[in-house]
Parts: sequence; C-alpha cells; structure tokens
Amino acid sequence: MKRLYKVELATKLADRVYEYWIHAPQVAHHARAGQFLILRLHETGERIPLTISAVRGDAVRVIFMAVGKTTEELATLRAGDSIKDVAGPLGKPSEIGKYGTCCVIGGGVGIASTPLIAKELKEAGNHVIGIIGARSADLLILEDEMRAICDELYITTDDGSKGVHGFASDALKGLLNERTINRVWIIGPAIMMKVTSGVTVPYGVKTYVSLNPIMVDGTGMCGSCRVTVGGETKFACVDGPEFDAHQVDFAELMQRQRIYTSQEKVLLERFAE
Ligand code: FES
Repeated sequence: MKRLYKVELATKLADRVYEYWIHAPQVAHHARAGQFLILRLHETGERIPLTISAVRGDAVRVIFMAVGKTTEELATLRAGDSIKDVAGPLGKPSEIGKYGTCCVIGGGVGIASTPLIAKELKEAGNHVIGIIGARSADLLILEDEMRAICDELYITTDDGSKGVHGFASDALKGLLNERTINRVWIIGPAIMMKVTSGVTVPYGVKTYVSLNPIMVDGTGMCGSCRVTVGGETKFACVDGPEFDAHQVDFAELMQRQRIYTSQEKVLLERFAE
C-alpha cells in the first residue's frame, strides 16, 4: 500500500498564506533550488504544484496562498494530517554558479521560492542581495530568514507600511544605477515578473523568472503548462519552471492563466457549500 505523507507543521504566515512542512524524504533528499513538487490530497483530488521552499532532514517546506478550491482544501490540514501523494522534485534546478553579485527578488507569496535560491547562490560564493516585496507589511513573509541568508536585504511594500514605499522593480532599478549586478532571479505574480524583468533589459543583465502556468501532470505529457520562450513552445514543468525572463511571452502566459479563472471560481463555490 502506498504510504501517506504527513504534515509535520502547519503555520499560518499571513492572511490566506500557509506554511507546511511535509515529511517526504524522497523529495527532501534530492531537492534543489528552483524545483517544485506536486501534491494530491486524496485519490480524487486535483494536483497542486508548489515550489520547494526549504528542506530540513526528511521534510520539505511549501508555502501557498489559499485562492482556489484545492488550496482552500489544503489549508484545512493541520499537523498530523496526511496527504495522499507528493511527487518530486520536479523541474530543472536553478542555474546556480559563481557569477559575482546576484539579486534574488520575491513578490508576495513568490517570496517562498527565494530562500533556497539565495542559499545556494551564497554557497556558490556570490554576494547575494535579496529584495522582497508585498502589498503591505502584514503580507510580507520570510523576512528574518532572507535577512539571515542574504548579504543585503531590501524590503518594499506597495502601500509604504514597511521598507521602501513602492515596488521591487523600483528597488532593483536603484541598485542597478549604483553598481554591477551579474544575475537576477524574480519570482512572483506574472505581471510583477514582467515589469521587474523589464528593468534589467537596458543593463543587459541575465534575468531568470520562475513561471507558474496551470500544471496538471507535471511530467511534460499533458501540455497544459505550455509557455512561449524565445518564440518556441516550452513546457514549464520539464523545460523550466525557470526561464530567461527576456525571452518569455508574458502576455500569452497571463492570458492562459485567465482562462482558468472562471472554472476555478465555480469549483471554489462548490467546495464552500
Ligand atoms: Fe503537463 Fe507540464 S504540466 S506538460
């Protein structure tokens, strides 16, 4: 009989944002920065792709926002509860190397992906600058953790309730005007990644984004996660999820994400009944 995966720790980090540590040794022992896992709550549950945010012993951490039927259901789990399937690690790891100065940027719940990338870049001998941004101070997550990993950390909030009043893109622009940055990673909502990666274009800085299209099987078979990068069709689950930001067709990505919004709303209403 297939084993179940136990939730070791379940914490609410912010409004609708949850952090779970899940006992999944086969994922934890092989996970690298930039990779993700897919979990399924029960036999008939939908598959949920989530970035691997941290690893500790036999457990992996995922952070998610409860925004749809499946993630609302996931958010009802508590420590000691079990998950039917956890598959991973999936996707290609981040292109970690010794580049010099690297900037790792997280927006909103996308901040979840930043500690592992920053940690591996630091271990590779880079000077690591973190920028984390959220709509407001109460939605900012992992500040202490990023401060401990990064050489420098900058905070931005859209409403000015913490750090610099503005967007991560503003903080990045300021840094690029002052000094040389050799590589940039950006993880967040599609529009935030589009705008922020646009900032590095005139500076010619290689920039990676982690794309979050709808995923179903996570193995390159179903085609639901297709994105266009450099004019070619790619599958985010096996060719990514990280891609060269300056080659990504963000308009198509955002349009495809919207297709599912109405279906998701119906499912959510049913779950809430
Ligand atoms: Fe099915 Fe990527 S999720 S091909």
